[in-house]
Amino acid sequence: MSTTEGPTIELDGEVVAYEPGETLYQIATRARREVPTLCYDPRLEAFGGCRLCVVEVEGIRNPVASCTTQATPGMKVRSSTPALEGHRRTILELVASENRQIEVDPLSGHSSGEFAALARRYELRPGRFAGRKSGASRHDDDNPFILRDYDQCISCYRCVRVCAEREGDYAISVVNRGFATQISTEFGGLLKDSACTFCGQCVQTCPTGALADRKALRAVDLPEPIAKTRSVCTYCGVGCSVDIVTKGERVVGVQPAMDGPANLGALCIKGQFAFDFVQHDDRLKTPLVRRDGELVPASWDEALDRAAAGFRAVVDQHGPEALYAIASGRAPHEASYALQKLMRAGWGLNHIDNCSRA
Ligand code: SF4
Ligand code: SF4
Ligand code: FES
Repeated sequence: MSTTEGPTIELDGEVVAYEPGETLYQIATRARREVPTLCYDPRLEAFGGCRLCVVEVEGIRNPVASCTTQATPGMKVRSSTPALEGHRRTILELVASENRQIEVDPLSGHSSGEFAALARRYELRPGRFAGRKSGASRHDDDNPFILRDYDQCISCYRCVRVCAEREGDYAISVVNRGFATQISTEFGGLLKDSACTFCGQCVQTCPTGALADRKALRAVDLPEPIAKTRSVCTYCGVGCSVDIVTKGERVVGVQPAMDGPANLGALCIKGQFAFDFVQHDDRLKTPLVRRDGELVPASWDEALDRAAAGFRAVVDQHGPEALYAIASGRAPHEASYALQKLMRAGWGLNHIDNCSRA
């Protein structure tokens, strides 16, 4: 947006309008500047911890963190200079000195490639600040969902903040300072013994793969490329947007859609991790009817005829008031519509509900 209506700042010599309360980072991003960030997640309160998003402001001696600095009218801001780029590269090299491995498998989580992408962009010189490291991995946390590999942790605290601000769980926190810094549950226990609901929010915001999707990583050796397909979670009527992660024909994971209007990147444990039923051997793929006491495969015509005969027998014996229908929250709108049509138009009843009250 380049207009002179409302308050403006000068960004790299260009006059840019902004809404009162906006930060320099928000304005710069809208004006298509590529200001790097690490501790920033647009869904969270700005934190100002990593200092990667620094910009120069005329009249202020040191660069300021753009994610926590609100614009004031007439500010003159520079988003990229040789000094800023050098500063950012040095910060990244310091951060990289904490990591055992920069490149991680993208199955780890939605944001897991952020740090690696910055490392490539700034052509980091590996090992420049080699030395002590903070954070010890919790290899003993054998929960089936979340890998806690804190050797990869850069102390951005996005996991802690998303757990508190978005999920309201406060299941994890930061303990100690300096090289003793550690992301931990209360009393340093396992996630299953904490307030964690295994929503996966922390996994999906982590920019290094330190927290990773253990279920998705089961597919790390499958040779096919990763594909993502936008869909809607089928578990309840909220309608959370998801990206179904596949390799070839196989569903290997689920990631929340950060721009999903109903969930803005949030999911519950079911939407996040409970997808194995899709390819489970026990999954019904054809109708079953009971013959001589045994369930046997049948055609859809036969199964529907049997169901209709069953309804008819109940109505003939007890009257239509004996019927009551509850639609599954996992049914699509069309199926729920058809069921209420059957009850209302077919049997003349209002005995219809939905388990998610959608
Ligand atoms: S899975 Fe959810 S509840 Fe558990 S620590 Fe992560 S953000 Fe918190
Ligand atoms: S575990 Fe990931 S999200 Fe949490 S502080 Fe470490 S790097 Fe950041
Ligand atoms: S992104 Fe602004 S300080 Fe980390």
